[in-house]
Amino acid sequence: MAIGDYRKLFDLGGRHALVVGAGSGIGEACAEGLAAFDARVTCADLDLNAAQRTAATIGRDGGQSKALQVDMRDPASCAAALTQAGTPDALVITPAINVRRRTRDLSDEDIRRVIELNLVGTFRLMRDFGEAMAESGRGGSIVVFSSIRAQVVEPGQSIYAATKAGALQAARTLASELGPSGVRVNAVAPGVVETPLTAPIKANPDWYGAYAAKTALGRWAQPSEMVGAVVFLCSDAGRYVTGSYLVVDGGWLAQDGRFTPPL
Ligand SMILES: NC(=O)c1ccc[n+]([C@@H]2O[C@H](COP(=O)([O-])OP(=O)(O)OC[C@H]3O[C@@H](n4cnc5c(N)ncnc54)[C@H](O)[C@@H]3O)[C@@H](O)[C@H]2O)c1
Repeated sequence: MAIGDYRKLFDLGGRHALVVGAGSGIGEACAEGLAAFDARVTCADLDLNAAQRTAATIGRDGGQSKALQVDMRDPASCAAALTQAGTPDALVITPAINVRRRTRDLSDEDIRRVIELNLVGTFRLMRDFGEAMAESGRGGSIVVFSSIRAQVVEPGQSIYAATKAGALQAARTLASELGPSGVRVNAVAPGVVETPLTAPIKANPDWYGAYAAKTALGRWAQPSEMVGAVVFLCSDAGRYVTGSYLVVDGGWLAQDGRFTPPL
């Protein structure tokens, strides 16, 4: 490879990225970040107004973007999204919910709601878009949002953690199935990121501070700090990376955080 070509590794010019969850938090930042590397970005979300806001921000900055409403819980809506958006070169899937309750207090409805979006909806998009990307003959990249909760837990995380571990294993399996067609599938595992999803924790100073202290960096992430991982995985910089679990957690998983020895 010529030295000058390495500079193009992150170039997404001529590529189409579909970001589901682009209306808020990590998805919003990823849509903007992918556009900054010249991808044409379709901003999809259940909340059409929010998706339109993100698309407008990208447009104001000179990027190409349009908004699309999709409800990941609805098979017909997902099928329509594929028809309307067309087969993308990159698909990023962020939507998820969390119900923080001890396992004994989870109702069947709680369990169903979390699984319906975090697992069934994510599976549905991976299956349908993955197949379309494979059939396109152009290859592509799918990025699914898992979490450090796929590996480590605390009381109250059982159903959320189960879905995040499930999404990771689904990504690995799809990577294995679609590898021969040049479609790569990877999972990103954030630690704690300041978004509307985690706003209830930020509102509790003890809880917020304890999570910050658990990381090696001593702080929460901003959504913009997830963008580098996603651009890497969607671009040629990551073209030999598939089936991976990319942890972006400020060092949360690296240290147990119980005690600093008197050294
Ligand atoms: N924020 C964190 O600290 C954190 C930590 C670890 C993992 N994650 C993961 O990162 C991902 C993104 O989290 P976030 O904090 O940006 O969330 P968020 O709540 O800020 O954004 C989620 C977006 O998904 C959309 N959405 C909800 N239901 C939908 C549906 N049925 N169909 C389509 N869109 C729908 C919402 O409208 C919203 O725009 C999630 O998978 C989450 O589990 C987040």
